[in-house]
Parts: sequence; structure tokens; C-alpha cells
Amino acid sequence: MSAPQNPSYTVVLAVTGGIAVYKACEVLRGLQKANCDVWVVMSEDATRFVGTPTFEALSGHPVVTSLYDMPGDPIPHIDLADRADLCLVVPATANVMAKMAHGIADDALSTTLLAMHSPVVLAPAMNVHMWQNPATQANLATLRSRGVYIVDPTSGLLACGDVGEGKLATVDDIVSSALHLLNETKGTEHFVSETIGTEPPADPTATVTPSCAGIPTQTAPVHDLAGRRIVITAGPTHEAIDPVRYIANASTGKMGYTIAAEAARRGAKVTLVSGPTALRTPAGVLRVDVVSAAQMHDATVAAFADADCAICSAAVADYTPAHPADHKLKKNREHLDTIELVETTDILAELGSTKGARTVVGFAAETNDLIANAQSKLVLKHADMIVANDVSRKDSTFGADTSRIALVTSEGVEQFETMPLPQVAATILDHLPRMRRRG
Ligand code: CTP
Repeated sequence: MSAPQNPSYTVVLAVTGGIAVYKACEVLRGLQKANCDVWVVMSEDATRFVGTPTFEALSGHPVVTSLYDMPGDPIPHIDLADRADLCLVVPATANVMAKMAHGIADDALSTTLLAMHSPVVLAPAMNVHMWQNPATQANLATLRSRGVYIVDPTSGLLACGDVGEGKLATVDDIVSSALHLLNETKGTEHFVSETIGTEPPADPTATVTPSCAGIPTQTAPVHDLAGRRIVITAGPTHEAIDPVRYIANASTGKMGYTIAAEAARRGAKVTLVSGPTALRTPAGVLRVDVVSAAQMHDATVAAFADADCAICSAAVADYTPAHPADHKLKKNREHLDTIELVETTDILAELGSTKGARTVVGFAAETNDLIANAQSKLVLKHADMIVANDVSRKDSTFGADTSRIALVTSEGVEQFETMPLPQVAATILDHLPRMRRRG
């Protein structure tokens, strides 16, 4: 195997020492099939699992394992960092994540990572207890906050015999995440996301139940949103009262995440601005994690600047404490019985009034006067469509896997039967006003 003649991108594959090293060979091949030129740097431990001749033969380039023994190249780490359009660490051990988080550069691989000035993607793989260790999670949070992308590990039987999270994501997921990120960021300097997802989108045909009989199912993948940029808000927001207390709501984020998965499946470039949820990032979706309504506002407005469409499914807090305390309030000594609140900015209304020719969709989660409330939100927030759902129904409430929606536009109201969320997502995207279809 040799390097491609006219590669689209150059990827530096950093291989650290774990049992999953052999998967890095398949990742390398997957990147080459997508016309990427791949250069490899390995930690010494990694070479104990798979030798450098394998990676040299596959990549068509010398493999860097030391800063000192590269003939003709006195500074291999700078050379690698300068040539990379993207650096992919597969597998990423707890050790390399700790080194990256603390800026430690004590071998060729960690020095290359410190010199890297292109996007860095980590595909972690380790024992479940190492993954869950607070030190690893803290390092992960640090790296995410610095814009490092994480291809989340999955759960399953691990090499050590334990069962749990820590299994390397699939080769396809790692390769497609890297390619998606290259396409998304090549030529741009700022990266808006912390995580790029690998969770396969739900199959809209897979969960059809008899109660949904008569609803058309989607059988063939459509690419009707190819090239479209869609911003989706999802989940609740948390409004801090003090460092340990906050105001929240019952939203789980399932609706927004399912729409994001379906939009990405249809070819859209999706930025998912997510409040705190326990959900995995859908495949190919760029996720921006936020906590408060103010953070969600800022991230959504920034992402909408070059988007074609916004879908605001988040349950944003309408009010936030005016003076969040910087210490834990004592119930007997401080005023916990009265909390002064101030109104948050209505993100949907702001996007609606600045959208121009772009499409803005909102939600109305109501317990009564569903359609009237949705119609008034449509007008007040200058939305093109409101997805109305009656959250007093068990089959349509927060956290349910189904929803019974009505689509409300200036042209009228269309009511649908209860559907599984993937079909709800497909229905919403099928009805997006003014989104010209391609493909
Ligand atoms: N929304 C928003 N920013 C806010 C509040 C709401 O973007 N600060 C959006 C939601 O994402 C949703 C729509 O506005 O798309 C309606 O939200 P909802 O909570 O149903 O209605 P509110 O406007 O908050 O009004 P009310 O709580 O009185 O029903």
C-alpha cells in the first residue's frame, strides 16, 4: 500500500498503547479509501502491540516513534504538526489524555500532540473503571473545553473481561467522524463543538408499532438536506441558584437529538446546542454543550450566523436567578425561601426576528389550548412553523419515545397520530418550510 497521489487531506494518526491498536490499522485504511494521506506517530507502548513495519507498509511513510532517530528530519514533531489537516488519536489511552490535559510532552507522540495546531480527535479506549475514574473524566472535560473532539467510546465486553463503557468506537464511526470534521472545518479557524457524534441514527422503520399503523414509514435514505446547515437546540437548561442548586425542567433532549440524527442522516450539517442530558451525540452531528439559558442563547446565535435553519426544541428556562450565590446557601441563615428571578432572552423569538429568508422552527409544549397557544407563539416569535405537542398525554410527554404532534404554520394546522420519535423527526423535516430540497 502506498500514499495517495493527490490526497484530499493529510491526517496524522497518533497511535497509543492499548489492545485496540490493531483497529488503528483499519482506521488508516478507511482514511486512505477516502483519499487521505496518513502519517503515523506511535508511542513506544503502541509498538509492543503492532510493530512499525505494519504501519509503514500501510501508510507508505516512515513511522515516527522517537524525536531523535529520523534520518534527515531533525524535528519530526513539528513536521507532522505542520502537515496535518487533522490529528486522530486511535486508540487514546487514559495516559495520553492525561498528558494532553496537562501539556506533558515526554515522547514523540505527546510532543507532536502539543505542537498540533489543527483539530484533534480522540477515540478513547480503556477499561471501564479507568474511563470512569474522576481523573480521566476531569481530563476529558478539560480537553473538550479546549476544543478537542471526542469520538465517544461505546459500552460492551472489554478486552479485560469487564463489561461497560470504554470500548473503542467502531472503525466506521471513527473514520466518518474524522471525515465529517475535515469537511466541516477545513479552511476555517474556529471550531464550535466539543463532541462529534458516532451514535448511529435510529432507524425510522425499526420502531413502528401497531398503534402507528397507517403512518407512512420511510424505507429509503434520502439526502434532501445535503449541504444545508441546521442549528438544533435540545434538552433543558439549568439556572444556578448557588453552586449546588439550580432550576431545571423535565426535558430529556430526546426530541432534539432525534431530529439532529435524522437531519444528519439526510445530509445536513447539524450543530446541536445541547443543555445537560444523558444522551449520546448522534453520528456526524457537531454538539455544543451548554448549561444555562444564557449560554444556550450565545451558542445558538453564533451557530445560526451561517446556518440555513434553526429548530428550537429545547425547553429553555424562562426565568433565571437574578443573583446566583457563589457559595452554597445555608437554609437557616440565608434567603432560600425567596429567589429573585429575571427573565431570560427568548432565543426562538430573537432568531425569528433576525432570520431574513432563513427558516426558524419552534416548539410549543402545552397542557391545554394546544393549537391556540402554538398559533400565538408562531406569530409572537416570527417562526415559520411551530411543532405543537400535548405534554399532558403519556404518549407525548417529556421523556416518552413517542409524540403526538401538530404542525402549525401560517397556512394552517396539520395534526398527526402518535408516532415513534424517529418518525416525528422525519415528519418535521419533511415539512420544513422554505428549505429547498437537493438530491
Ligand atoms: N424558547 C426559546 N428561548 C426561551 C424560551 C423558549 O428559544 N428563553 C423556545 C423554545 O425552544 C420553544 C418555544 O420557544 O421552541 C416555546 O417554548 P415554550 O416553553 O413552549 O413557551 P414559552 O415561550 O416559554 O411560553 P410559555 O412558557 O408561557 O408557554
